[in-house]
Amino acid sequence: MLTRRLKGWEIPESEATPEALFEGRRAWLKAALGGMALTSPLSIALTSPARAEAAASGYPAKANGRFALDRPISAERLVESYNNFYEFGFEKTVAGAAQALKPDPWTIKIDGLVEREQTLSFDDLLKKMTLEERLYRHRCVETWSMAVPWTGFPVKALVDLARPLSGAKYLRMETFTDTSIAPEEGDPLYPWPYVEGLTMAEANNDLAFIATGIYGKPLPKQNGAPIRLVVPWKYGFKSAKSLVKFSFVADRPVGFWEALQSSEYGFWANVNPAVPHPRWSQARETPLGSLIPRSTLIWNGYGEFVADIYKGLEGERLFA
Ligand code: MTE
Repeated sequence: MLTRRLKGWEIPESEATPEALFEGRRAWLKAALGGMALTSPLSIALTSPARAEAAASGYPAKANGRFALDRPISAERLVESYNNFYEFGFEKTVAGAAQALKPDPWTIKIDGLVEREQTLSFDDLLKKMTLEERLYRHRCVETWSMAVPWTGFPVKALVDLARPLSGAKYLRMETFTDTSIAPEEGDPLYPWPYVEGLTMAEANNDLAFIATGIYGKPLPKQNGAPIRLVVPWKYGFKSAKSLVKFSFVADRPVGFWEALQSSEYGFWANVNPAVPHPRWSQARETPLGSLIPRSTLIWNGYGEFVADIYKGLEGERLFA
């Protein structure tokens, strides 16, 4: 008889977590949110229809076992209710506001220094890609962290599809802009749209990933539906959400945070516990749902994959 083993995140919270620990998580989240109301009922409501949709579209994808974790996977409920998505607000509780996002239909442009510019629908892009699942750590510059099963495809597959010209040195990625659904994008004090960039060597690295799903289903809106970057050796702000444009360019793109405050947020933003943020230490991190900080690892523990990229670049601000 064939039986399917439940994956970690498929175990109901009630079975997986003793009540006292669950209450501990609530307390931790309350502290982290400065006493703001929790949104767990909302995230539960969001999860079920998403699962139905997932079954119809071929999720969950086959797991790529090459990317192992050194820690438990974060609770799905927390990952989908504790978010940074500044287009929808500057609190962690933006999941409700992010429901205004309309990820279907979604158009993606591939332009700049490429053999041929392309505009294609998200669905057509997906048809050209083979989806896989990877378990990655994620380290936010604010010192919280999570461990997540992402579904998607390597950035390299998108680079191959784009066929960049030799003059292309960087991949610039841009988030949607639509003030009718994301009012914060109307705030002139911020350098909208949200932009991030990678060097071509980074984009072609095995670890650089484009996520279209999470926990075996398509991305929830608050996590960057329908398509986002995931670069786990860098601080989380590099992993731009809800992307509409991939441009191959000669000059280094200036990211949203770098444009806002370059003394605190740079282009490279590689994780390093020994290099503090100007206003706080980066030595430790607190996993979502935990009360106990743990040591942060250089390159967020991914040195075997990425350290070589940076040989000869020691003069750069690699860790800010
Ligand atoms: N992408 C966009 N477009 N807007 C954002 O505000 N926040 C970044 C990154 N990508 C952000 C974004 C930051 S600071 C982090 S830590 C991660 O998204 C958070 O991803 P999550 O909400 O899925 O955990």
